[in-house]
Amino acid sequence: MASGEVSDALVFFGATGDLAYKKIFPSLQGMVKRGFLSVPVIGVAKSGWSVDQLRERARQSLQEYGGGVDEAAFGRLVSLLQYIDGDYADPATFAKLRQALGGAKRPTHYLAIPPSLFGAVVEQLGKSGCAAGARVVIEKPFGHDYATARALNETLHTVFAETNVFRIDHYLGKEAVENLLYFRFANTFLEPIWNRNYVDCVQITMAEQFGIQGRGRFYDETGAIRDVIENHLLQVVGYLAMEPPISLDADRIRDEQVKVFRAIRPLKPEDVVRGQFTGYTKEPGVKPGSTVETFAAVQLEVNSWRWAGVPFFIRAGKCLPLTATEVVVDLKRPPMSRLSPTESNYFRFRLGPKIAISIGARVKKPGTEAASMPTELMAVQSSGRDEVDAYERLLTDAMKGDPTLFVREDAVEAAWLVVNGILGDATPVHPYAPGTWGPKEADRMTAGLEGWSNPAADR
Ligand code: BG6
Repeated sequence: MASGEVSDALVFFGATGDLAYKKIFPSLQGMVKRGFLSVPVIGVAKSGWSVDQLRERARQSLQEYGGGVDEAAFGRLVSLLQYIDGDYADPATFAKLRQALGGAKRPTHYLAIPPSLFGAVVEQLGKSGCAAGARVVIEKPFGHDYATARALNETLHTVFAETNVFRIDHYLGKEAVENLLYFRFANTFLEPIWNRNYVDCVQITMAEQFGIQGRGRFYDETGAIRDVIENHLLQVVGYLAMEPPISLDADRIRDEQVKVFRAIRPLKPEDVVRGQFTGYTKEPGVKPGSTVETFAAVQLEVNSWRWAGVPFFIRAGKCLPLTATEVVVDLKRPPMSRLSPTESNYFRFRLGPKIAISIGARVKKPGTEAASMPTELMAVQSSGRDEVDAYERLLTDAMKGDPTLFVREDAVEAAWLVVNGILGDATPVHPYAPGTWGPKEADRMTAGLEGWSNPAADR
């Protein structure tokens, strides 16, 4: 639910950087096209550029990542765009920003910059008066572990009240992830079986066929657990496992999310298997002998009345056989095992790049034999290409002051507590060949069940 007025200026720090190039300019063009963005847009960076250079960069970004330049929308965007060049620790940069903001009363400041610079920018925003009435949008990674996430929250709160802080997890901006909530709470048929009495296990797989794509330095300080499990995939667990919120107000939904994270027992070394694809240590930016994981599989339990005893498995990795993020909620098998010898019923949520919601069922196999065969009832199926981009959605929501799809302070801290005990070298890292489903050591985790449910390429 939107709260407060729509922002009357958008400032983005890191205007000449990678994120602006890949995500922000395409989102801005989309927002202009939808008629949402008509306020000053001020890029800030320290590159010695002019506004014309930034405009040219925006054009290239749209060509490469924005589905092409829409000349009408681009023309409007360019007329809104300003550029401030300066150091993030220099008060003069922020004096220029204050001036550029003119009479704006509710600016949104988007910190699309490395985390090491968050503190300096927040402090300068406060001192210069640019933070008055403002909202702040913070990019991931939010902290490096529980302690640093807490410290970052404290830094932010010296200048911004929590209601004005918008922590980005772009998974929450995905239509398919939001649909987990709608599919659960806009239907009656699911609720009676969505619990430990009917659900056998939950598996979440985020497979990526590509490697670390030239991000060696960043990745080698991060690893799969911090990069995608602590944030994106735990948010998915939150939506799958939460209780119905008492209303759709942002904080009532977020109350339920945080309850899930708190109900998860902090992970221990025996709950995780880490892997590293062969050749990782040869990647530019990666330390020789690095033991950072490019694959991780974890087993967790949501220790609530609804879920106690149901294993949740999460698996994420680079250089796997294909790219797909998928959730499978497996139901217990019916007693007549001859009729359902292997696969039982399940719900399958394909979250990307294709999108699907389907229900696995069994029907009679045609013929005289007393046998069944699997089928899928499809509720949603799309290529995913028509979705509003997650960044565009989130930036729009932040400017409207709607925090529903942003991570609250207590949730980010609770999520870090879940993984804090398995970070770094708490467990060994096992090699795996690129193009496989990770190290074989991960197979033991699901050995008592029907094994891992690998997403198929074509559905
Ligand atoms: C990012 C991670 O947050 O999410 C990347 O840093 C990962 O390593 C990406 O590839 C996945 O996002 P998506 O939207 O492509 O599933």
